[in-house]
Amino acid sequence: MITRDLSSLPKRDIYRILSSLVIPRPIAWITTVDGSGRVNLAPFSSFMGIFGPPMLAITLGRRRDGSLKDTHRNLKERGEAVVHLADLPMLEALHASAAEVAPEVSEVERLGLVTEPSLHVTPPRLREAPVALECRLNRELELGPLSTLALLDVLTAHAAERIWSADHDCADASFWTPVSRLASVAGPNYGALGQTFRLDASELP
Ligand SMILES: Cc1cc2nc3c(=O)[nH]c(=O)nc-3n(C[C@H](O)[C@H](O)[C@H](O)COP(=O)(O)O)c2cc1C
Repeated sequence: MITRDLSSLPKRDIYRILSSLVIPRPIAWITTVDGSGRVNLAPFSSFMGIFGPPMLAITLGRRRDGSLKDTHRNLKERGEAVVHLADLPMLEALHASAAEVAPEVSEVERLGLVTEPSLHVTPPRLREAPVALECRLNRELELGPLSTLALLDVLTAHAAERIWSADHDCADASFWTPVSRLASVAGPNYGALGQTFRLDASELP
């Protein structure tokens, strides 16, 4: 067994090691809108779903100069976001949307992505993304000088028809290829869902 005491490691090493262990991580691909209506898009893989109540948790770090990321600033100002889940054909666009560009540059326009209006929030959703969750900021929790946990209420869920199972009235993972984030070694590494299994549930509560 390789054992590392995290309390004695520099921050960079902690991040490299933990982000290689907690895998695969779903990636929240988030649209927000700034004060002048510009649409921002960026991926966040420190992300999990909380299903009762219907919420999402996302950790927002800081830019290299310590300032807030555009997603974070827009969330604070407008309190709204659309969280998408991407499938394999969108992976390169997702990756490219993480580039640190000036706030006045819209990653959506830069990448030539098409949007559709949302039902209950101002940020639009990406037309090609198989899943889009319209969200409102519930609260923020400061985790230190460089990290904030944002809790979002999910108001509306959209899924592409092609991933929907009419039999079960929910999405079926065998109809699409959700992407995930793996270790950060020389940049982010990604995975795609491979095999899926259904086991007997008769003895489960
Ligand atoms: C796959 C992937 C996952 C990421 N996850 C996070 C994350 O969980 N938290 C974070 O602060 N930044 C994360 N980043 C970095 C942000 O996407 C990046 O800082 C981006 O420039 C922020 O854009 P914005 O300023 O438009 O919000 C991730 C990047 C990639 C490529």
